[in-house]
Order: sequence, then C-alpha cells, then structure tokens
Amino acid sequence: MRPLIAGNWKMHGDMSWVDKPGAFAELLPAAEREHLDVLICPPSLFIAPMAASCHEGNILLGAQNCHDAESGAHTGEVSAEMVKSAGADYVIVGHSERRAGGETNADVAAKAIAAAKQGVTPIICVGESLDIRKADEAEAVVSAQIKASVPEGLTDYVLAYEPIWAIGTGMTATAEDIKAMHAMIRDIVGPNVRILYGGSVKPANAKEILGTDNVNGALIGGASLEMESLAAIARAA
Ligand code: 13P
Repeated sequence: MRPLIAGNWKMHGDMSWVDKPGAFAELLPAAEREHLDVLICPPSLFIAPMAASCHEGNILLGAQNCHDAESGAHTGEVSAEMVKSAGADYVIVGHSERRAGGETNADVAAKAIAAAKQGVTPIICVGESLDIRKADEAEAVVSAQIKASVPEGLTDYVLAYEPIWAIGTGMTATAEDIKAMHAMIRDIVGPNVRILYGGSVKPANAKEILGTDNVNGALIGGASLEMESLAAIARAA
C-alpha cells in the first residue's frame, strides 16, 4: 500500500510558513518520493496561500478539522466545502486534542461524512489514554472508537492510530504494541484503508515504525514543523 507521510502542524507557525512546502520539495524532490504521498495539514488560514506551492511540489494539503454542517451560524468554524475550495483534499477529524475538548465519536463520524460529501478524504483519529493502556483495555477502547467514528459505508478514508500518551511526549509505543494494535485495526477497516501511526514519530524512530506490519504511514506533529525532519521521515518510508 502506498505510504502516507502526514504532517500536522497543529497551532504553530505564521504566514511565512507558507513557503515551507517549497523548501520541502527542494530537500526531497518529487522524483525521489514517487512511491509515497506527502501531506501537510497547516492551520486553516494557511491552506489557500499554500495551495499553489504544494501543487507544484507534489505535496498534498489537508485541514486539521472541519464542521459537520454545510454552512450556518457557527462562529469560528470552517466547513468541509471551505476546506475543499481553499485547496485541501484531506481533513483530520477526531484528533485527541479535539476529543479532549468534548468531541465525541458521533461528532467525528458526522465530520467524516461532511468531508466525504465534498470529496475531502477524512483522516479519522483514534487512540487510548495511558490509564486505559495500563488497564489492558487499549484494544477494546480503540476498536469501539473505530466502530463509532467511522461512518457506515465510508470506504475512502485514512485511519490514524495515535496513543494519547505518546503524543508530544517523546514516548512511542513499542514495535510489538504497534504491530498488535494495527493488526486489530486492519481486521476492522479491511485491506484498502491506510492505517497511520502517530505519537512522537521522529527521524530516529521512523524506519522501525514505518517498517512495522500494517503501518501505512505516519501522522507527525512536532517533527513535521521542520522540513528537514519531515523529509528525513519521508525518506525512511
Ligand atoms: P507528535 O508527533 O508531536 O507527538 O504529535 C503527534 C500528533 O498528534 C499528530 O497528529
């Protein structure tokens, strides 16, 4: 399966960052990464001004969230249609940092449907807390999250497994844990859905993580902010 290396910039950067895709394409030209997809998900404001350089550099563009409604009185929100018309083809939904703010599985599923309707591929995020992992309930919780967050009948989506305790902490799940979790996820999502791992993916651990069975790419926070480290991770794929 074609790997997907996805950077999630979260709430970092300023308008000068719209030049980063150009820098990435210089570091790792498209001809050297024909076997994989590279995606950057910047803050929504940067999507439109990044669209041309991403297109030129053969880099995909995504949003970090969208609303489930087509339009309406939702101050501060962006719709899937806006995401699409700004130039993005992917949207992250259900990131744990948003679930922590109250987003439920049902909300995530509604956002995924709204995205798919616009031809935007949702990257549906799941993952357990440290307490759940310690209680040996990680697989049960993640399985329940997937069943409730992936809309019935949706086929074009990406599933991202991000253990909450590994995000931004420098801790990563062991290769065995990732292998076991991704095998379970594969059973649920079927053979055609890309499954990403996320949580402190860095150039130093990328090769091992990306070489694990049923890991079809990575969702990268901190290490995606510098194009050198994003390129090093992409080289490992
Ligand atoms: P870090 O790579 O900074 O741990 O973040 C992972 C993440 O949350 C990507 O969505």
